[in-house]
Formats: sequence, C-alpha cells, structure tokens
Amino acid sequence: MVILNMLKATIIVGCVVLIVFSIMLITQTNREQNEFDKFINTYNKSYVNETERSIRFQRFQKSLETIKLLRQRCNGCTNYGITQFSDLSPEEFAKTHLTPITMRISSTETFRMSRSKRSITTVALSSIDWRDKGAITPVRNQKNCGACWAISAVEIIESAYAIKTGSLQTLSVQEMLDCSGGINQGCIGGSTVSLLLWLVENNITVLNEENYPTVYEDQLCTLHQTPNEAGVKVKSFLTLNFMSREQMLLSYLSKSPVSAVVNALPWQFYVGGILSQCDNSMKSLNHAAEIVGYKLGENPYYILKNSWGTNFGNDGYVYVAIGNNECGIGWEVDVVTDVV
Ligand SMILES: *[C@@H]1O[C@H](CO)[C@@H](O)[C@H](O)[C@H]1NC(C)=O
Ligand SMILES: *[C@@H]1O[C@H](CO)[C@@H](O)[C@H](O)[C@H]1NC(C)=O
Ligand SMILES: *[C@@H]1O[C@H](CO)[C@@H](O)[C@H](O)[C@H]1NC(C)=O
Repeated sequence: MVILNMLKATIIVGCVVLIVFSIMLITQTNREQNEFDKFINTYNKSYVNETERSIRFQRFQKSLETIKLLRQRCNGCTNYGITQFSDLSPEEFAKTHLTPITMRISSTETFRMSRSKRSITTVALSSIDWRDKGAITPVRNQKNCGACWAISAVEIIESAYAIKTGSLQTLSVQEMLDCSGGINQGCIGGSTVSLLLWLVENNITVLNEENYPTVYEDQLCTLHQTPNEAGVKVKSFLTLNFMSREQMLLSYLSKSPVSAVVNALPWQFYVGGILSQCDNSMKSLNHAAEIVGYKLGENPYYILKNSWGTNFGNDGYVYVAIGNNECGIGWEVDVVTDVV
C-alpha cells in the first residue's frame, strides 16, 4: 500500500514535471518564434516558401543556443547576439562568408617577400586610427562571395597609396577576383599573399573602382580593355608572423594599416565590443581583414575593418583584444611597403 502510494506520488510528480516541462518548451518555442519574427523584420529577410522558412527557423533556434554558449565561454560578455547571419548554420555561414582554410600560406616563421626599408620602433603609440587620417575607404559588403582575400589586399593598397600621396581612391576588388590566377579562385577563395605576389611580379595596375566595377560575382577578366588604366601598382610588400610578438604588430600599425588572416567563425554572432576568447589555432584561420588601428589602455584592442557591410558589428568594424593572438590575428600579416 505504501509502495503503491509512493508509486502514485511519483507518477503525479512525474506528470507535473512533464507538464511543466512541456509548458516551458511551448513558451520557449513561442519566445523563439517572436524573436525570429523580429529578426525577419530587422534584417528584411524573405523566404521562398514555408519549408524554407521552417528550415531557417530551426537554424535560428540552433543559433540562439550557440549564442548562449559563446556568452558563457566569455564570462557573460555582450559581444554575441543575433546578427543578419543567425538563420544560417555555421557550415552555411563558413561556406558563404569565410575562405576555405587551405587558401592561406602555411608558415610559422617570418616569411619575407621583400625587405622593408622602414625602421620599426618598439615603442607603440597609445592609439592610432587610420580612419581619422583619411586612409580608409568605406566598409565593403562581399555578400555571398568569398572575396575577403582580395578585399583585404586591395584595402591595404588603398591605404598605402593614401598615406604616400594624400589621395584616397577606391580600387577594384573585381579585377582581383577576375584576373589574378594561380591558387586564387574568385568568389570561391584565394590568398592575399599570392595576390600581392601576382601584382608585383606582373607589374599589374589595380584599377580605380569606376573603371572596373565590383559586383562580387565571378566574371571573365577584362583587364587591358578599359581605355583608362588609372590606378595603383604595388612595388613591395611583406608577409610576417607576429605570434607572441604583438608589440611588433603595433609598431607596424603605427606606420600603416595591415592585412591579417583570422578565424572569423565566432563573428557569425558578433554584435559589438571587444572580442576575446576567440579560438586562435592556426587550423581555424578562415578570413582576412584590414587592421586599421588599435587602442591601448585598460582593455586594449585592434580595430578591424570587416567586409560584411555596415550593419555588422560596430558600423562594419570588429574590435579584437590585444595580447593573446585572439582569433589568430598574428599568424599571417601582410604589409604593403611601397606603391606607385
Ligand atoms: C527588403 O527586401 C525587399 C525584397 O527582398 C526589397 O525589395 C526591399 O528593397 C528591401 N528593403 C530594405 C529597406 O532593405
Ligand atoms: C521550397 O523551396 C525550395 C527551394 O529553396 C524547394 O527546393 C522546395 O521544393 C520548395 N518546397 C515547396 C513545398 O514548394
Ligand atoms: C611597369 O609598368 C609601367 C607602366 O605602367 C612601366 O612604365 C614600367 O616600366 C613597368 N615596369 C616593369 C618592371 O616592367
């Protein structure tokens, strides 16, 4: 009799728990539905049919879990939240916004393509922002084209030219996507180093944007078909490794912006602030961006110009903590040392 009562009690408790649990599940799903509706509105999303919408909702629910985990990992930081990429799985996101991992150079030591004549001091300024010095063009949006390798190269060329001549010009990313050969494959992916090498070795002019408009789609190369070949040539560049030597990276940044290869997988959910606890292993490198400055102080950080539009991060920029090679920022850094 006692046992039977206990059994009953257990069943009742079990049922209550189950019911409570179901209610919790239903309210959670409702809440997620509401968040999804808000997301659709905010980012002006539209899906071809109900099947597609429900797939995207599932991805969105998974993203909410990932965001929770990311926040836990960085001790409740507010760097992660819903972004325009929250209806994609990490695989879909990597496929559309990150460059295949095989596309970077593999080198753990300093890799010099040409010698820099500039002396690099070890004392860094407390902050520098090349945006304030008229050396940075507007934030680009690569859309679904894996163009980061070309964008970051073109941007350090734009910056080097602006610093040398005082004239800031927007240059053609499309020319790089269409024309640079070797291991570079347009929107599929490529390498900043191999692009810079191609430019120097072949004496190629990076044309002004208006003479070779960028559409972020694979096209046939139309170089030498425009009457106006105005643009910029790269005379020399460096490829460097700053692992455990971020002080030197700061020194370089005080002379000009640089391009860095990074792991941007956690950026799928980056909503602003200074990123830390970002996986920095070499095998995770999958993106490239121009570092346009840094700020020292209590929470020192690099300022990275990303290429996912101005709705992303801090008006298109990402702040990455200085000191732990966060996101793998020191693995491969490219510096354009002379342009004409
Ligand atoms: C929203 O999306 C629709 C169709 O996708 C497009 O026509 C419209 O211009 C977009 N509006 C905004 C504000 O982006
Ligand atoms: C919904 O759209 C997808 C394409 O994104 C298509 O493959 C699928 O067949 C469509 N489903 C229905 C029910 O129309
Ligand atoms: C590179 O091209 C320029 C014309 O744009 C030409 O004057 C120069 O001689 C060329 N340099 C080499 C090394 O071919």
